[in-house]
Amino acid sequence: MIIIKNNDEIALIREAGKRLAFVLYKTAEKVAPGISTWELDKYAEKLITEMGDYPAFLNYKPDGASYAYPASLCVSVNDEVVHGIPKKDKILKVGDIISLDLGLRHKGYFADMAITVPVGGVSAASLKLIKTTEKSLQVGIEAARAGNKIGDIGHAIESFVRPHKYGIVEVLAGHGVGKAIHEDPFIPNFGKAGTGTKLVPGMVIAIEPMLNNGTKHVTLDDDDWTFRTADRKKSAHFEHTILITNGDPEILTRI
Ligand code: MF3
Ligand code: CO
Repeated sequence: MIIIKNNDEIALIREAGKRLAFVLYKTAEKVAPGISTWELDKYAEKLITEMGDYPAFLNYKPDGASYAYPASLCVSVNDEVVHGIPKKDKILKVGDIISLDLGLRHKGYFADMAITVPVGGVSAASLKLIKTTEKSLQVGIEAARAGNKIGDIGHAIESFVRPHKYGIVEVLAGHGVGKAIHEDPFIPNFGKAGTGTKLVPGMVIAIEPMLNNGTKHVTLDDDDWTFRTADRKKSAHFEHTILITNGDPEILTRI
C-alpha cells in the first residue's frame, strides 16, 4: 500500500533528509587512501546520534535477510554494488571508487541517500561511471512527476543509460520512504513508459540507480549482504529521497 504523506509528515522527512545529507557529505569528506570502511561507519553513526537521531540501517532486518544489517553505513567498494559491510581491515586505496549509502530516522520519519566518490585519483573510466550514474539519478528524478507513472522513472533512466552500455542492476530498486525505510512502491531503474502506478503529490520515494561497468548481473557474497557485480567490474550507486509535488520534484536529501 502506498502511503501519501501530509504536510506535517513531509516537513519531518524534509528535516530527516537535510540532516542525512549533511552527515553523508561530512562522511564523504573523510574518504581518503588509508582510512578503513569501519572508521567511516563509526563517524557517520556518531554524527547521527549526536543530533539525537537514529541510523536507519543498524540492526535492520528486511524480510528474507538471514541476519540484521550490522552497521549504520553501507560501504561498497569497486565491484561491490550495494550493502557492503564496513570492516576494520578494509582499507581504502588510491583508485578505488566507494559508494556510501546511509539512512536516518528523525522523529519517527526516515530518509535514504547514497553517493559514490573516488578515492584519490581514479581512472577516466571510473570517473565516467560515477558521473553517468549521478546523471541517471537526475534523469530519473526529472521523470518523477504527478501524472507520470512509476514505469516512466525507470524508462527515463534506462533510455539515458543505454548509449553508455552500462549494466543496470535489475534485482535491486528504489522504494517508498516514510515511517519505514522501505515502503511501497518498488521503483525499478528500468521499465516501460506509461506503465505502473500513477505518481501523485505527497508520495515520497527513493530513486537509486546502480550502474555496472559491465554485466547487469550481480552475486551475493557469503556474508549474505554484499552484492557484487558478476563479472567483478566496478559499480556506482546514487540515491535521493524525493517528494512528488504538483510541479517539479523536490529533493528532500539535500542540505
Ligand atoms: N539504501 C539501501 C536500500 O534501499 C538501504 C539498505 S538498508 C540495509 O536498499 F540495512 F539493508 F543495508
Ligand atoms: Co534505498
